[in-house]
Amino acid sequence: MPFSLEDLRKARQALTQFRSTSLSPHHERYSFPFFAGSYFAYRKVDVLRVVAIARAISPSPSYLDVGCGYADFLKCIREFIPSAEGIEKDGGIFYGLGIAKPEYIRIADAHWIDKKYDMIFVGWMEPGQDFRDPVARETDVIVTTLDQGISLAAEFDGHDFRKVAWWRTPSWEDVNTEIMNRIYTKMPDDRRAGLTKMRGAHNLWYIYSRPAKAGIVKEALRKQAEQEPVDSYDFENVLDECGYAYLQKLENLAAPEPLWQVQWD
Ligand SMILES: C[S@@+](CC[C@H](N)C(=O)[O-])C[C@H]1O[C@@H](n2cnc3c(N)ncnc32)[C@H](O)[C@@H]1O
Repeated sequence: MPFSLEDLRKARQALTQFRSTSLSPHHERYSFPFFAGSYFAYRKVDVLRVVAIARAISPSPSYLDVGCGYADFLKCIREFIPSAEGIEKDGGIFYGLGIAKPEYIRIADAHWIDKKYDMIFVGWMEPGQDFRDPVARETDVIVTTLDQGISLAAEFDGHDFRKVAWWRTPSWEDVNTEIMNRIYTKMPDDRRAGLTKMRGAHNLWYIYSRPAKAGIVKEALRKQAEQEPVDSYDFENVLDECGYAYLQKLENLAAPEPLWQVQWD
């Protein structure tokens, strides 16, 4: 579902307006994830896990982010893997709005992935998009993030991959709802407390590997997770304030695992 240029322009105007009254420079990444953040709410621990797995496959891994948008997550990965690349179908998000396209993003459909990568990352993808075949063909290790309700197109078990591990984090919507309830909406304290108990966290990270590399992937992730938490990004304060702390357990029965805790398959 490419965005229409008109929609993108309107959204960018809304972001400019939001900035004029916003109470934190970090709120916009959850209210305007496409322009200012990502659809999955991540911490530095997520970046470091992904990097650790990629480096276990190769000391200078080749890495591709599919459907990278403006590359918010990819830029974090490039701090550690400077050769990491992105592929994005919709050139209009750059050219239509006069935004410079970084040279490490190729404008093309994911069906045209045409070389091998040590790791392919498929961040939050719209329902209806299914490029499992080209992704599975060109790598042995896949990291996906997906919304809990829309998982099929991100499941690679049927492509000779093994799900090695997974963990749960909030999506931008979960965090945005919390920010709006806590900070930008006037309501009685008891109602706000009631809504907070219903907090959800619908974003799942799946780590897939070809069976032959599953041991290496698992070991790299285990070692990395043992060192956590290490460093953090400034914007993680918003997650802490909204009750999405590292290893936080929510009261919502639909999200029973502590957030960010690695679950082994
Ligand atoms: C929901 S946005 C997510 C962007 C980014 N991954 C994030 O999480 O913030 C999905 C992105 O995937 C791109 N996309 C959709 N289908 C694609 C395809 N077949 N090949 C490459 N990119 C695609 C869209 O244009 C859009 O930028």
